[in-house]
Amino acid sequence: MLNDKIEEALNAQFNAELYSSYLYLSMAAYYHSANLAGFAHWMRIQAQEELFHAMKFYDFINERGGRVTLKPIEGPPTDWESPNAPLEHTYQHEIKVTGLINELVNLAVEEKDHATNNFLQWFVKEQVEEEASASGALQKLKLSGDAGNGLFMLDNELGSRIPLFTFPVKSSN
Ligand code: FEO
Repeated sequence: MLNDKIEEALNAQFNAELYSSYLYLSMAAYYHSANLAGFAHWMRIQAQEELFHAMKFYDFINERGGRVTLKPIEGPPTDWESPNAPLEHTYQHEIKVTGLINELVNLAVEEKDHATNNFLQWFVKEQVEEEASASGALQKLKLSGDAGNGLFMLDNELGSRIPLFTFPVKSSN
């Protein structure tokens, strides 16, 4: 059973993961409008992963006898000043999310909720990868410059990122 403080904090993180998904989908839309289909593809997968994170919180809250509550999701930015900017924003955002996960772990320890602490350790590890992935893409973009051949080559590379899952294709019947 979850205590009220933990239930509220897990629901807040559920909402934060949905916001992350919304943010990255907004970045995908920005890249689509800039004709950078590979960058857009990378961001769509990023958005998909955040939805997966959100659903992990959803399932855990339910499993522990808590109540999932859906709150409004903040509107993300819709425009960025250059192809570099969303990746820089992604990296900074992931650092912020790491801080939120760490605060949740601190709360679980304070409340002596070992099951929640154990659940959160998956996210502690995941955040190391999330920061590294965003930082890696950003570094490559800085090396290639944000115009010309380098940008085109990186667009091709980012376009090969493998999705977590594929959505069903609409039937032709
Ligand atoms: Fe759910 Fe990118 O952290």
